[in-house]
Amino acid sequence: MAEPVVIACINHKGGCGKTTTAVNLAAALSVGNEELGIAKRRVLLIDLDPKGNIATTFGVDKRKLGPTMNELFKGGVDGAPVKLTECLIRPDELTKSMHSAFTRQNPERKRGPPKDLMVDDLWLLPADLDLSGVEIDLATRIGRENRLRLAMQNSVGHFDVVIIDAPASLGLLTVNALAAAQWVLIPVQAEFYAMENMSQLMNMVRDVQKAVNPGLRLFGIVLTMVQRSRLSETVAEQARKHFGDRLFETEIPRLVAIAEAPLDGAPIVIGQKPNKSNPGSKAYWELAREASARIETIQNS
Ligand SMILES: Nc1ncnc2c1ncn2[C@@H]1O[C@H](COP(=O)(O)OP(=O)(O)O)[C@@H](O)[C@H]1O
Ligand SMILES: [Mg+2]
Repeated sequence: MAEPVVIACINHKGGCGKTTTAVNLAAALSVGNEELGIAKRRVLLIDLDPKGNIATTFGVDKRKLGPTMNELFKGGVDGAPVKLTECLIRPDELTKSMHSAFTRQNPERKRGPPKDLMVDDLWLLPADLDLSGVEIDLATRIGRENRLRLAMQNSVGHFDVVIIDAPASLGLLTVNALAAAQWVLIPVQAEFYAMENMSQLMNMVRDVQKAVNPGLRLFGIVLTMVQRSRLSETVAEQARKHFGDRLFETEIPRLVAIAEAPLDGAPIVIGQKPNKSNPGSKAYWELAREASARIETIQNS
């Protein structure tokens, strides 16, 4: 079976749109869109952030999670090894929880949730809070950088694409994401220190390339929370100069609708049609189109 394309979504700056980008990209690629020329793919989304927000984005009640990333990391050291596949939330379970969330938010709607509020090719490996404890625990273990890579071995052949959402730090969890991935996706918030932060981040990517994962390459840079301002334009210009065609043409605008989407228990690309009245969904679908083309190039090379 062909190896999946594994993309780590990283930036040590918090709140720059990593999770939002990882979730919407994963969801859009799993659904596909004929009109936009986006092939439908089997996608695994991995939450590597101790905040464990991704399950909530799909309306999943975190108290009802089975084994998570935590057990996966601990497994084999402190207890019976847990397999990655045992930790996954299946597409039908994600769909069911999106439906429950929708019904809770729209009790007056008699017809129930819209037909296309569903995913059928998206699996989620959730995280929960104690993952930060696991990170501390990992620090003293042999092979600590490769925990995720090993957990993924022989368990991800079923997928076309794997997207790993990293926490806002340059700690061991992020290193695990970079060791397990072949590609790096960096969401950058258009702000004054953006490019300075980027050079720090690229240094870390180079360190990981040298020490752990020489095959790691840049998938792309995407500007997030873009507002019409001189600052946004300056950052875009600098990023273009520095990263050339690795900068996605699509910019994600700062929009309340994007931030509010999890309220309805679905990523915006699933909850709203990509049209003029939904610029947030449209932007993420356009990003998915560009990402899809890059994935195709990778798969054909
Ligand atoms: N384009 C956007 N416009 C407005 N709010 C956004 C946008 N993208 C993300 N947000 C909100 O900003 C906050 C941080 O985003 P998030 O994706 O969680 O960042 P990170 O994972 O990098 O910490 C969240 O509350 C999210 O809903
Ligand atoms: Mg996040």
